[in-house]
Amino acid sequence: MTGLLPARVIGQPLERADGMAKVTGTATYAAEHPVPGLTHLHPVQATIARGRVSAVDTAQAEALDGVIAVLTPANAPRLASTEDPELAVLQSDEVAFRGQVIGAVVATTPEIARHAAGLVQVSYVEQPHDVALRPDRADLYAPDKVNPAFPTDTEQGDVPSALADAAVRLDQTYTTAWYHNNPMEPHATIASWDGGDLTLHDSTQGVTAVRDTVAPVLGVAPERVRVICPHVGGGFGSKGQPHVHLVLAALAAKAVGRPVRLVVTRQQMFALVGYRTPTIQRIRMGADRTGRLTAISVDVVEQTSRIKEFAEQTAVPARMMYAAPHRRTTHRLAALDVPVPSWMRAPGECPGMFGLETAVDEMAAACGLDPIEFRVRNEPERDPETGRPFSSRNLVACLREGARRFGWAHRDPTPRARREAGWLVGTGVAASTYPAGRIAGSSVTIRFGPDRRYQVETAAADLGTGTWTALRQIAADALGVDYAEVDLRIGDTALPPASVAGGSTGIASWGSAVLDAAEAFRDKFGANPSEGDEASGGMPDNPHTERYAMHAFGAQFAEVRVREDTGEIRVSRLLGVFAAGRIVNPRTARSQFIGGMTMGLSMALHEQSVLDQRFGHIVNHDLAEYHIAANADVAELEAHWIDEHDPYVNPLGTKGIGEIGIVGTAAAISNAAHHATGVRVRDLPITLDKFL
Ligand code: MOS
Repeated sequence: MTGLLPARVIGQPLERADGMAKVTGTATYAAEHPVPGLTHLHPVQATIARGRVSAVDTAQAEALDGVIAVLTPANAPRLASTEDPELAVLQSDEVAFRGQVIGAVVATTPEIARHAAGLVQVSYVEQPHDVALRPDRADLYAPDKVNPAFPTDTEQGDVPSALADAAVRLDQTYTTAWYHNNPMEPHATIASWDGGDLTLHDSTQGVTAVRDTVAPVLGVAPERVRVICPHVGGGFGSKGQPHVHLVLAALAAKAVGRPVRLVVTRQQMFALVGYRTPTIQRIRMGADRTGRLTAISVDVVEQTSRIKEFAEQTAVPARMMYAAPHRRTTHRLAALDVPVPSWMRAPGECPGMFGLETAVDEMAAACGLDPIEFRVRNEPERDPETGRPFSSRNLVACLREGARRFGWAHRDPTPRARREAGWLVGTGVAASTYPAGRIAGSSVTIRFGPDRRYQVETAAADLGTGTWTALRQIAADALGVDYAEVDLRIGDTALPPASVAGGSTGIASWGSAVLDAAEAFRDKFGANPSEGDEASGGMPDNPHTERYAMHAFGAQFAEVRVREDTGEIRVSRLLGVFAAGRIVNPRTARSQFIGGMTMGLSMALHEQSVLDQRFGHIVNHDLAEYHIAANADVAELEAHWIDEHDPYVNPLGTKGIGEIGIVGTAAAISNAAHHATGVRVRDLPITLDKFL
């Protein structure tokens, strides 16, 4: 790899190419595609958490005017593969969690379908269910790996002896709540069959992945499935993999011989499209008298579903954040009668860095050190567990720059030292990190069109992240032409395949393929191509991947105010500084960072899915009671970044920015709350009762 692509359009704060269409309501989302003869589906969901459907009476539903079909496990078409139990809808009468799809009504209108679904009478043979996540369960097990493919456990040195010998010790347990992804646009699919060809308009983070997952489930060749998704109203990981509604829509469309639309309701999203597992993190640390860590140990307990495993990689960031000769991490799972957990913005790093960065704050205080100085003192020279050098690591620069911008210098570290008109005021800091990865499998075609414009095509996704704009910027620089001369087409499996928009890998992966295609195009046709000239490219392997540890870093600063009499907590300031390689578009990047930080604030103070163990049911399954930070919850919010030149991560030098913004925010807030009140909150969310 030679130097990075010189930036001309890259780095410019261009407005979103899709912005006008979105704000004027002309951007077409999955459920809005006009399809002639459309019918509407409403699922029937299990009202028990474990057992078997013994009888279904569909007579009343079928008698309703406008009802086209009522599907149950007894009459639904068979799937070609039931290998993925989450997707094997209506293939058996077993109930594995409350809210599971056990039937479906297809009708001429959504209202009729919904009403009729309520008329379906279901009888069950119920079995006792178990939904209680506890760290002392006898049936906890070690998964083979944690998401996406990290080792489950790691161990170096002798942690017990190091802890026993440590001058300063910590042994605390931190917990994060059960969280549900709540993008503005609910999951939606329109499925239409034309003979053996299936078209899916689906709200997804990756049309190629949807096609390749769903085709074998339905027993259709992938080339006979077309998935279309030009715009996504958010996903946060929940649209990174197909969920049951997608298969259900396709199955129902086959059964009724007409196109079927399924819009998952907000309440249904709390059972059907994934969520972040609650985590229990026992963290032990030892340090010497100078504040150098000698041991770091993180033992995580979390849940998965009984039907399908998902293991959140919560302890993984503890493997590379800080130096210490003795270290261990473990993940243990309880398989419960609950819906299938899945990706939610920064799986692993997000909950894991709440525990780790709160523990670090506690250790810094115990060592009598400023929390920034404590972190600087424990910076590793190399990735502590792999021994690889970092391709670039600018955590210290982020901490210093953040401290300067935030005004950290004159902070009195004493808790409860600052009072303003009945409010206790405190400030806190936490680090953030996210791996800088790429996913293989993308290709890009560039064609010189009849209008003498460059058409750049790949099946990438824009889930509100800025892909429509950023990929065009990259293509313009890669071709050496103006941004206005480039047309981009994404979000359609009729285009060359692309990797999923997940793991903050989108721009690095697709962008690398754009560069490769542009190079091929220029090599073949030079700077004066003719109409119809065309070249394709993919993502070349990066030999540096095996040699370097590649991560983005950041520092989050928070100021909180806690009412002395009521415990009400407000976050009055949040400031993040990130080192995430080259920033392709400062305008959309800022939006990513502050979006992530806002979601972190929401996690810190508000979000919590409340389980009623008697029924295995999330009781606050709507936006009225599952509160997500609103404008009134967010005061001053700033995101900055430092110029970072990383020649190893990929030829663009980008590290990915979709997820790092959420990482560490909750810890910065809980650390600030401790500084304000002297109360250490180790269990999210930080609600007012915890200060009383
Ligand atoms: Mo992100 S949770 O990897 O879509």
